[in-house]
Amino acid sequence: MICENDSLIATFFLLARKTSCTDPQFLACDPKSCGDQKISFPFHIQNAQEEYCGYPGFNVSCNEKNTAVLSLSNNEYIIQEIDYQNHSLRLSNAAGFGKNTSCSPQIQNISLNDDRFRQSTTRTGVFLFYNCNSTLLENDSKLLKHKVNCSGENGNVSTVAMLDDDPLLGSASEKCGAGVVAPVDVYRGENVSIEKMLERGFVLNWVASTCSVCDESGGRCGFNITTYQLKCFCPDRPHARRCNSGEYFFSSFPVSKFYRLLEIAG
Ligand SMILES: *[C@@H]1O[C@H](CO)[C@@H](O)[C@H](O)[C@H]1NC(C)=O
Ligand SMILES: *[C@@H]1O[C@H](CO)[C@@H](O)[C@H](O)[C@H]1NC(C)=O
Ligand SMILES: *[C@@H]1O[C@H](CO)[C@@H](O)[C@H](O)[C@H]1NC(C)=O
Ligand SMILES: *[C@@H]1O[C@H](CO)[C@@H](O)[C@H](O)[C@H]1NC(C)=O
Ligand SMILES: *[C@@H]1O[C@H](CO)[C@@H](O)[C@H](O)[C@H]1NC(C)=O
Ligand SMILES: *[C@@H]1O[C@H](CO)[C@@H](O)[C@H](O)[C@H]1NC(C)=O
Ligand SMILES: *[C@@H]1O[C@H](CO)[C@@H](O)[C@H](O)[C@H]1NC(C)=O
Ligand SMILES: *[C@@H]1O[C@H](CO)[C@@H](O)[C@H](O)[C@H]1NC(C)=O
Ligand SMILES: *[C@@H]1O[C@H](CO)[C@@H](O)[C@H](O)[C@H]1NC(C)=O
Repeated sequence: MICENDSLIATFFLLARKTSCTDPQFLACDPKSCGDQKISFPFHIQNAQEEYCGYPGFNVSCNEKNTAVLSLSNNEYIIQEIDYQNHSLRLSNAAGFGKNTSCSPQIQNISLNDDRFRQSTTRTGVFLFYNCNSTLLENDSKLLKHKVNCSGENGNVSTVAMLDDDPLLGSASEKCGAGVVAPVDVYRGENVSIEKMLERGFVLNWVASTCSVCDESGGRCGFNITTYQLKCFCPDRPHARRCNSGEYFFSSFPVSKFYRLLEIAG
C-alpha cells in the first residue's frame, strides 16, 4: 500500500484529518501513453503496465518509434486510433506499402475473425501481387494501370495492387501468381488511391467487457486472469463493478444485517 498523509487538506478540514491509502492496483492502472495514443483498458502496454490492467489478448507493445503496435495472426499492426467509447480501433499494417517501401512481400494473409475483434461493415480487401512478370505486364495496358512503384524493385518482377472486386483479378493472378489480401475500409463515393487506403488501414470493433460503469464511478478497470473476472480498481480497494457505496453495501454489508433491514422495511 502506498499511503500518504493528507496533512495539507487536514489544515483546512481539521475534522477530516486522516491518513489515506491509495490502492496499488488503482495506481498501477493509470492510463499510459505511447506516442499520441492513450492506452487504457481493455489494452495495456506490455512491460510498462501490469498485465491485470488489460483484458487478455489486448496487449500492445510500444516500439522504439513510440508507436503502439498490436499483433494479429503474427502480423504487426500500427494502432492509428482508438475510440474507447465506440469500442473500435483503426489499424494499418506495420510492414507498410507503396512508394517509399520495398515491394518484398511483407504483408501476409491474415485472419481477422478471432474472438477479440469484429470487422466493420465497410471492410473490403486489397489484393497485392508481388510477383508479376514485368514482360507480360508491359503488354497489358489495363493491368499496367495497377502497377505500384516500389523502391528497389527488380526489373523483371513488378507489383500490382487492386481491390478484391476488380474484374482484372483473374488476369492478374495469371500473370502474377498468388496474391495476398490486406484488409482495408472503403467508404462509399470516395476516390482514394490503394496506397492511401493501406496507409489509412481498417477499423475493428473489440468484444471485451465495457468499462464505462467503473470509469464513470472514478475507477480503473482491470482483469483478474485467475478468476477470469473484470475488476474495478478504486482508490480504496478493488470492487466488482463500480467504486460507489451502493455496491459496497451489497457486496460487503453483512448479510444478516441486510435481511434485518429488509424485515424492517417490509
Ligand atoms: C501479446 O502477448 C502474447 C502472448 O504473451 C504474445 O504472443 C504477443 O506477441 C503479444 N503482443 C504483442 C503486440 O507484443
Ligand atoms: C462512434 O460511432 C458513431 C456511429 O458509428 C459515430 O457517429 C461517432 O462519430 C463515433 N464516435 C467517435 C468519437 O468517433
Ligand atoms: C522516404 O524514405 C526516405 C529515406 O528512407 C526518408 O528520408 C523520407 O522521409 C521518406 N519519405 C516518406 C514520405 O516517408
Ligand atoms: C515472363 O514471361 C515471359 C513470356 O511468357 C517469359 O519468357 C519470361 O521468362 C517470364 N519472366 C519471368 C521472370 O518469369
Ligand atoms: C504482346 O502483345 C502482342 C500483341 O497482342 C503479342 O503479339 C505479343 O506476343 C505479346 N508479348 C508477350 C510477351 O506476351
Ligand atoms: C532479368 O531477367 C534476365 C533474363 O531472364 C536476366 O538476365 C536478368 O539478370 C534479370 N534481371 C534481374 C534484375 O534480375
Ligand atoms: C491469400 O488469400 C487469398 C484469398 O483468400 C488467396 O487467393 C491466396 O492464395 C492467399 N495467398 C497465400 C500466399 O496464401
Ligand atoms: C480520382 O482522383 C484522381 C486523381 O486524384 C483523378 O485523376 C480521377 O479522375 C478521380 N476519379 C474520379 C472518379 O473522380
Ligand atoms: C485475482 O483473484 C485472486 C482470488 O481472489 C487473488 O488471490 C489475486 O490476488 C487476484 N489477482 C489480482 C492481480 O488482482
